[in-house]
Amino acid sequence: LPSRLIDGFGRAVTYLRVSVTDRCDLRCTYCMAEHMTFLPKAEVLSLEELDRLASTFVGLGVRKLRLTGGEPLVRKGIMTLVESLSRHLRSGALDELTMTTNGTQLAGHAADLARLGVRRINVSLDTLKPDLFRRLTRGGDLSKVLAGIDAALAAGIQIKVNAVALKHDNAEELPALIQWAHGLGADMTLIETMPLGEIDEDRTDQYLSLKDVRRELSSFWTLTDLAYATGGPARYVRVEETGGRLGLITPLSHNFCEACNRVRLTCTGTLHTCLGRDDASDLRAVIRGGADDAELERAIFAAIGAKPQGHDFQIDGARPAVARHMSTTGG
Ligand code: GTP
Ligand code: 5AD
Ligand code: SF4
Repeated sequence: LPSRLIDGFGRAVTYLRVSVTDRCDLRCTYCMAEHMTFLPKAEVLSLEELDRLASTFVGLGVRKLRLTGGEPLVRKGIMTLVESLSRHLRSGALDELTMTTNGTQLAGHAADLARLGVRRINVSLDTLKPDLFRRLTRGGDLSKVLAGIDAALAAGIQIKVNAVALKHDNAEELPALIQWAHGLGADMTLIETMPLGEIDEDRTDQYLSLKDVRRELSSFWTLTDLAYATGGPARYVRVEETGGRLGLITPLSHNFCEACNRVRLTCTGTLHTCLGRDDASDLRAVIRGGADDAELERAIFAAIGAKPQGHDFQIDGARPAVARHMSTTGG
């Protein structure tokens, strides 16, 4: 069935990102401030409420669900939610049920995720240097992430490693990171740092254009444009020398909003129709107010109808484009 979620610019919404918690066991410097206030429990949707909302979107034509956070695997009962949502894979309503994780707790969950039909997982990892990893994540243990990636690969799950490109932290290391990921048989994606939420460092200073990175990589590698697409924002090239796929996510140097197919649901039931805009609909109020399915669908149609054309990120702006953190929206 074609998606019934068409926005005002004729774009079909087929991809829902669900942030299941705002909490995380890491504190990446580009994502969070050092001291974050996390949401009180009463604000956070129950697993049943998350399931109801996500399943309603599936009923309206969403074909791809991605669980995010914060860190999705720190949410209590997360596997119960995955198990429940996996029914939409078996019914054929969903093409993909997946997750973006920091990987620290992936080792313990990989086999179950594979069993439930998760075929691909994105793992956020910006460096292979243990000390730098500890600094960027404010205390994280790299070896746990590496063990998580190994376990997922061993379970037959395809891995994509996501790295945010940071001029002063991992710019030099990017070729080694790409080579390592490709050596494992994983895809690798680089992301331009986006101005969301108040963080403790100067983003203008860390911003690195992936146009420049691509030019640099092309000086020693052959990069061939690929038609491969996942429904996400990355554009892919093949690195001929490693044989692997490299994705580039360039919200700043090359805006991709024209082809946007996604919206985001936070763990409090707020629907954000654009990562870089304040537009929000309170679906928690709708369901906790006792709405039936038809009323809930109407609220979703209204939000989708008002989806903005795109973001207006400016890396050199004095203030972030939106006040909420990436850890709230889930990327
Ligand atoms: P695939 O299914 O593998 O394509 O994943 P994905 O890129 O859709 O998801 P992932 O969680 O790996 O996101 C990688 C990065 O892309 C994150 O930093 C997201 O914030 C960013 N991203 C995803 N969608 C959008 C978008 O619509 N706009 C912007 N500006 N960034 C996005
Ligand atoms: N800019 C770009 N990407 C970010 N992420 C977190 N914060 C930012 C930011 N400010 C990434 C994480 C993860 C994904 C969900 O979002 O590294 O890969
Ligand atoms: Fe946690 Fe992901 Fe934010 Fe890092 S980027 S602090 S891993 S939510």
